[in-house]
Amino acid sequence: MNLAEEFAGKTILAPLTKGGNLPFRRLCVDFGAEITMSEMAYARQIVKRSRSELALLRKHASETFYGVQIASGKVEDAVKAGAAAVEQGAAFVDINAGCPIHDTVRRGMGATLMRRPGALARMVEAMRAELPVPVTVKLRTGWSESKVTCIEIAQQLEEAGVSAVALHGRSREQRYSKSADWGLIQQLVESVSVPVVGNGDVLTWYEGEARREASGCTAVMVGRGALIKPWLFQEIRDRSTWMPTARERVDVYYRFVTYLKEHFYDDERGRKRAMRFLPWHFGFFCRYRPLPEDAWAERSKEHPLMQTRMPAIESDDPLDLLLQDSREDVHERMAAAMWDAQDLADATVQFERLATEVPPHQGDYDDVAVSHG
Ligand SMILES: Cc1cc2nc3c(=O)[nH]c(=O)nc-3n(C[C@H](O)[C@H](O)[C@H](O)COP(=O)(O)O)c2cc1C
Repeated sequence: MNLAEEFAGKTILAPLTKGGNLPFRRLCVDFGAEITMSEMAYARQIVKRSRSELALLRKHASETFYGVQIASGKVEDAVKAGAAAVEQGAAFVDINAGCPIHDTVRRGMGATLMRRPGALARMVEAMRAELPVPVTVKLRTGWSESKVTCIEIAQQLEEAGVSAVALHGRSREQRYSKSADWGLIQQLVESVSVPVVGNGDVLTWYEGEARREASGCTAVMVGRGALIKPWLFQEIRDRSTWMPTARERVDVYYRFVTYLKEHFYDDERGRKRAMRFLPWHFGFFCRYRPLPEDAWAERSKEHPLMQTRMPAIESDDPLDLLLQDSREDVHERMAAAMWDAQDLADATVQFERLATEVPPHQGDYDDVAVSHG
């Protein structure tokens, strides 16, 4: 399979631990995501047949081109986990070589692989030989800001038979403190002949388009942008900004809850499991701001809007204010109200009620850039 064709011009939902749960991916598919990716799964746990880890590989029927991301420090585990992913319907398997989290790095996985490019290349080679689907690698720019290694590594991976590389334009040490370096993504495009997926800071369709055109990347990958507004895929496809009303947003979030219920089941146990996700998602949903092109496109050229402190939505509608409330206890209350609602109309009524009950947010509104992951 040729990923250059499959990826061309597409917007890919980034692998997102916790965020990329199956119900959320399904919501993104509804809004036009054509390529989705699993949460990162630990290969060792897959090999040990851990139920919770195996559950991460499952795809929804609506996902037509689905990739599974694995984290592995060992070639053998990576091959076996890749085979398990293929059994679950993965159209490609991605190796995480960028995860900065201490625990992952300490165990020789994630960003550590960028310090062991030979081992990473051997992993790609073995997976390519054993698996019937393409193998991709998601990289950061390097371990530290001062040493960019991704280009050299990607060239090595190309020789090893990688089918595409995704580059999140930040180093392992940078986390989200600085804007992603799309100049480097362009440099990578010019340095390898495999498709390059560019990733970092895309929040609006016009930023996605500008980044794609300037860098020449094959596809754009979006993470936080999709978590904040799952309709980003539709905006990029249609080249237009959708500015849903507060009630329309409640509708979207309610649809997500129905998907959570289908996945985890609408009972006490399901509720408990869903509550590990739902309030957390409101922590991203609340960062939504309408960013029409005519008001924001110019500014976005200077600095990505994802990394820009955004003013609160000014509104007399208490529901608008509720939806942008960044307090965790409010997210818990919204999640509970939505889960317990009978239907969409009831959810809207419950939210309107909550909007009048919750005291107005006094503190600073969070900027959209708050770092996760
Ligand atoms: C909540 C969260 C979880 C993430 N989990 C993963 C992961 O499991 N694997 C991975 O390669 N990157 C992970 N990332 C990084 C994203 O895939 C992406 O590279 C990064 O957020 C930059 O893209 P963005 O600016 O569009 O968010 C995560 C990011 C976030 C915000």
